[in-house]
Amino acid sequence: MPLNYTLSLIKPWAFSQDLTGPILHVVNQNGFHIRAMKLIHLSKEQAGEFYEVHRGKPFYDDLIDFMSSGPIVAMILEKENAVVEYRKLMGATDPVEACVGTIRRMFAESKSHNAVHGSDSDENAIRESNFFFNVLERY
Ligand code: CMP
Repeated sequence: MPLNYTLSLIKPWAFSQDLTGPILHVVNQNGFHIRAMKLIHLSKEQAGEFYEVHRGKPFYDDLIDFMSSGPIVAMILEKENAVVEYRKLMGATDPVEACVGTIRRMFAESKSHNAVHGSDSDENAIRESNFFFNVLERY
């Protein structure tokens, strides 16, 4: 059975533009329940560990610089088949390719400033949720 939660981040650019409220509104309207949430400013080392899977890719250094450039909102979202459902709601990585009604189409500026992150598999949802939250921080 697919996992019923996923890990999402509101990235530094979206947070700095006060898009947190509008994004959370869309998240809740689409049936996701917030089970954990925090504001955190990652160090380069922490961002590098979180995005370990992308190490070596051409965009990796820029991604780490960007993700450690300011505060982000980290959250665990609950819904049936959460990983797949949230990826549908986020839309394509590049906002130009994202469908109407998706978070990235509505709120992203570019492929790197793409507003939100969402886990890409149940395995990563578990790893990424554990990266940000301990059991006492989940409801
Ligand atoms: P995210 O879902 O957080 O996962 C990795 C991030 O790398 C991705 O969103 C993008 O913001 C960023 N990125 C930048 N350039 C690329 C690229 N060419 N392909 C994929 N991801 C990219």
